[in-house]
Amino acid sequence: EQAGKGAYDHYMLKEIYEQPQSLRQAIEGRVKPESNELDLEDFPPGTFEDVETIQFVACGTSYHAAKYAVQMCSNRQLSAQAFLASEYATSIPHVDENTLVVGVTQSGETADTLTALRKAQDAGAQTLAVTNVVGSTAARECDDALFIRAGPEIGVAATKTFSSQVVCLALFVEQYYRDRHDGEPSEGSDELLAAIRDLPDVIESVLEQTSVQSVAEAYRDVDSYFFIGRNTGYTVALEGALKFKEITYEHAEGFAAGELKHGPLALVTPSTPIIGIIDGLDSDKTIHSLAEAKTRGAPIIAVTSNPESVRDLADMVLDIPETNLELAGVVANVQLQLLSYHAAAMLSRPIDKPRNLAKSVTVE
Ligand code: G6P
Repeated sequence: EQAGKGAYDHYMLKEIYEQPQSLRQAIEGRVKPESNELDLEDFPPGTFEDVETIQFVACGTSYHAAKYAVQMCSNRQLSAQAFLASEYATSIPHVDENTLVVGVTQSGETADTLTALRKAQDAGAQTLAVTNVVGSTAARECDDALFIRAGPEIGVAATKTFSSQVVCLALFVEQYYRDRHDGEPSEGSDELLAAIRDLPDVIESVLEQTSVQSVAEAYRDVDSYFFIGRNTGYTVALEGALKFKEITYEHAEGFAAGELKHGPLALVTPSTPIIGIIDGLDSDKTIHSLAEAKTRGAPIIAVTSNPESVRDLADMVLDIPETNLELAGVVANVQLQLLSYHAAAMLSRPIDKPRNLAKSVTVE
């Protein structure tokens, strides 16, 4: 087993560091190096032209990738929703032949997601699996499959597959937009595709930093960790908190930055550090939410490419390079993965196999 981990103490750390490579695999051939042209191989232009709405179904980390994709759809006025697969299956919403139900599932074997997809199929929807495993049940049962090509992920806590899911979903969303607009690219699509091409290098530079260890060390004796963000940053706040609780066993919650004042602020004390994902849409409002928490004594950790914007506010900063607004969340998430990892390592947790959790849950 140690051999599989190479020089790393845990598969999770190895998989975090594999992200530049897994993203290169995800993008390979799909974004042309010189022209930034989009080519989703099995999905020629026009594939999604009859799709009027998309329903994503997923669990856990994959659900956060699905929510990320919904945000990207909303940013382009495309109709899409994300559902927790177990909830979707309980009472499926209206679907018809112009509804595409997309199951986002790393393993392709999660029972809740498979049930949701089967119910959607029975009700007449088109289905697509976005998965890492070529021969998986989801890939076989859905009408089509988009493979994220992340390579095997052993650590129970999903890391590299989240980044690959988001990037593949971003390409899918752009294709969906074009198919719904007579082949016209969405506004800013050139910049987005160029940023997707640069993303592996950007993440590589994040992985070279070491500042995250001192953040994990500084806040080891607190009550709770809160993560906040807006738009795609909100989904990353949810994912950051999920990862943190999965492997540290400490209490962590993710909130929409704007919702902090509608309830969670009552929990905020000097013993609840707030990790803010700042880069993205409406970053000034996220900074304002952090300022509200600081007034209540909370330590503030900012994940940002612009430390100057939080100079008087943040107790600590996790730097990320500047990138496309919609991709900043993926980059910020790498810092959050590292934060969870180092916090769990300090607590000597069994990082690759957290108690009570399984890599793939095949019962409902
Ligand atoms: C389990 C794992 C999670 C994962 C979820 C969905 O609960 O512990 O890390 O996000 O299943 O898995 P999937 O294979 O469908 O993406």
